[in-house]
Amino acid sequence: MKKTTLAVCSIAVLWVGPQLAVADPDDDQLVINEEISIVTEVAAPAHVENLSTIYSGWRFRSDETQAVQMDDFDNPGMIGVENALVDWDTVEGTAGQSCAGCHGAAEDMAGVRAVYPKWNEEKGLVTTLEMEVNNCREARMGADKWKYTGGDMTDMVALISSVSRGMPVNVAIDGPAQSTWEEGKELYYTRTGQLELSCANCHEDSYGMMIRADHLSQGQINGFPTYRLKNTKLNSVHARFKGCVRDTRAETYKPGSPEFVALELYVASRGNGLSVEGPSVRN
Ligand code: HEC
Ligand code: HEC
Repeated sequence: MKKTTLAVCSIAVLWVGPQLAVADPDDDQLVINEEISIVTEVAAPAHVENLSTIYSGWRFRSDETQAVQMDDFDNPGMIGVENALVDWDTVEGTAGQSCAGCHGAAEDMAGVRAVYPKWNEEKGLVTTLEMEVNNCREARMGADKWKYTGGDMTDMVALISSVSRGMPVNVAIDGPAQSTWEEGKELYYTRTGQLELSCANCHEDSYGMMIRADHLSQGQINGFPTYRLKNTKLNSVHARFKGCVRDTRAETYKPGSPEFVALELYVASRGNGLSVEGPSVRN
């Protein structure tokens, strides 16, 4: 199977108890609305050196949680998508514009989620969807920025993701994006906090382990935004990163910070080949 050495010891210290056990992801297939087939398991891209197969987090959830994502009428994350559809058509700001006015139907965003984060030539940096949305709001609409992990923003990202469901994640890691990707990789493997754990200690070395009721996944982000049954709302990528860093008892970077943007690019690239799945449902 996989290396279960130091990291497991650290995790055992963190979650002392007899619950520690290994369970592989299940074999369930994800088809949404009996229509959209989702790739939840595929050979790891060559740049993910220590994994042979990558899995969506969906494969680690219980049958009950999995079922909620299989039909849009059951998926509470789709309420966020509907809210965002209203915003999409709403004229706001000094330029008298709406998203729809320039971009047409929301469906025209199909394919966009799959390639973000992405190098933005004009800005000369890697941008996330949230940064693109705020750039349009501020510079093109003359409207106020949305809070990076706020409800309006996360709903909009859920809408943009939903129209790409089933398409393979395919972020570019070479060319001008390469140095940002390297930076993200470095962060992924750096041990932080009092517990001295890196993302890799949990999501690469120890995925499949049961930690209390939680089945540890590979920490993929193809399903974001994610509706969590735990906090009953849509959660953005950077909000999740913040929570995971905090669990190591480290100071966290800010959502929208260059560090989290780099980490997002790196983590997204570890999912190249999985389907876009957001808004997904997790516990
Ligand atoms: C005044 C016209 C205009 C308005 C209004 C506008 N945008 Fe944009 N948007 C653009 C242009 C131009 C680009 C850059 C070129 C492109 O990718 O289409 C862009 C790029 C984007 C991108 C990146 C697309 C890609 O393919 O990389 C996203 C996402 C986006 N806009 C979302 C929104 C959202 C959400 C709204 C409403 C809150 C909005 N935009 C409002 C003109 C606009
Ligand atoms: C102490 C162990 C631990 C560390 C360290 C850790 N995580 Fe997590 N993470 C978890 C647990 C537990 C969950 C919830 C179960 C799951 O989905 O794996 C989770 C969930 C996630 C998810 C959600 C996956 C999904 O499909 O919804 C992402 C993304 C993630 N982590 C990324 C990271 C990143 C990036 C880092 C490093 C900054 C990190 N995690 C560090 C334990 C950890």
